[in-house]
Amino acid sequence: MTTLNESVDVARSIDEVFAYVSDFTTTAEWDATATSAVKLTAGKIRVGTEFKVVCALPVGSVSILYRITELRAPDFIRLEGRSALFTVTDSIHFYRSKRGTRIDYEAKFEFKGILAPVFSLSRKGLESMGWESVDGLRAALEDTFAIGAAGDGIPGPARLLPELSRFTRWGYIRGLKRFNPMSKSMLGKHVVLTGATAGLGHAAAHDLATRGADLTLVVRDKRRGHRLVTELKRETGNDEIRYELADLSLMSDVDALIERFLQSGKSIDVLINNAGALFNPRGQTAEGFEQSYALLLLSPYRLTEGLSPLLIQAGESRVINVVSGGMYTSKLDVDALPNDENGSYSGSAAYAREKRALMVLTEEWASRWKKQGIVVNAMHPGWADTPGVRSALPGFRKITRPILRTAQQGADTIVWLAVARETGSVTGKLFLDREVVSTHLVAGTREDAAERAKLLRLLDEAAHSSAALSA
Ligand SMILES: NC(=O)c1ccc[n+]([C@@H]2O[C@H](COP(=O)([O-])OP(=O)(O)OC[C@H]3O[C@@H](n4cnc5c(N)ncnc54)[C@H](OP(=O)(O)O)[C@@H]3O)[C@@H](O)[C@H]2O)c1
Repeated sequence: MTTLNESVDVARSIDEVFAYVSDFTTTAEWDATATSAVKLTAGKIRVGTEFKVVCALPVGSVSILYRITELRAPDFIRLEGRSALFTVTDSIHFYRSKRGTRIDYEAKFEFKGILAPVFSLSRKGLESMGWESVDGLRAALEDTFAIGAAGDGIPGPARLLPELSRFTRWGYIRGLKRFNPMSKSMLGKHVVLTGATAGLGHAAAHDLATRGADLTLVVRDKRRGHRLVTELKRETGNDEIRYELADLSLMSDVDALIERFLQSGKSIDVLINNAGALFNPRGQTAEGFEQSYALLLLSPYRLTEGLSPLLIQAGESRVINVVSGGMYTSKLDVDALPNDENGSYSGSAAYAREKRALMVLTEEWASRWKKQGIVVNAMHPGWADTPGVRSALPGFRKITRPILRTAQQGADTIVWLAVARETGSVTGKLFLDREVVSTHLVAGTREDAAERAKLLRLLDEAAHSSAALSA
């Protein structure tokens, strides 16, 4: 038997510390050896909850199945881990301290098989691994991380290929190495997320529900909304999840949704404008707007403006706009945004134009609401394998399938912008894989101030004309 004891004292409340540590999936963020960690048991974290943690060894890796055997929130947790090479018992005590919380961590290893003598003798190696892990936990809980940026300025044509390679799953895997832990609690944070039934929105909803966020999911189908909420509650044990119905391409639905939120009077801490689609062929909504224009631009414009009193009311709040790398091909062209020209319509071009406009709007809102405590940022997910990509871009998906990200990988930066402490103080930026990236890949897509002002006028006029429609 080899026993390691480490202690760490952090300036965080005992409840927050307990919530973070008792969810053993967070080991992937702070344990020096853990490369992945998943929760295997549905529901709240309790005695009997199991986690699978994969740890790197000097040669190869080992998979450890952990089971919580004792839990007294917020003072104590014990986990038994079993693997092919050893069993381990982690006993973790939490005490209120002058700084905040002291954690006493004990890990008892029992090695098995022919490697037992080797492991038992390498106590020094184990001790340094144990210390590194607890130091990682301290850093995660101290949470003093800063935001990185991917170099200065517009990359230019020579850098196009390397920049595009970042959109792939390999780009995400490279990015992972510099990701920092997110130990900030989402308990009691009201998050409104659009497009949660599929793809990136579904992945983000699952992650945010796991973190305890108070979630309102905007969906357009009652049956699917009900199913989604039931599934998320069952899997995560979070009961603060509900759905609201709205077809976001209809301004009358958007207005009714805003009205319901305003009537409730409940503050919004995070608004995630994620719902989207690429439309081919051109189609018109019952209200007479071209669909991409309605769903990708008018809808987030109207929803965010309409909900701004509740975002301001929250004191510190965040708006996250999901744009697309497709916007890199497009310069802001306000006259073309309504996509009135039936004959020359291209779904991809319309999509790129609307996303470019939403990026510009992100910057405009960021400066407008800086003093009111709302930070507004955009992210693009790279290329992720989602139902949206499967149905709208089957040819693209066929060719790129091996390099596409999973929905979780694509949604990672959405969750990070919603949760991380450090993203609460940055505004008006575009992110890819938790890093600020340029909003242009080539200088030719830059717009001027007059075109930006024209965008705001167009949206304002459209809002007034559609207000008449929904009245
Ligand atoms: N996947 C990528 O590689 C990629 C790349 C760049 C940007 N994006 C952006 O990421 C966001 C999510 O895309 P995704 O790939 O996850 O797409 P997805 O799999 O098609 O999911 C889109 C979500 O939006 C909802 N939605 C669509 N139209 C709606 C409407 N009229 N009213 C209400 N909800 C509506 C869908 O609801 P239903 O389930 O009812 O259809 C679904 O929940 C979009 O803004 C997209 O432009 C994705």
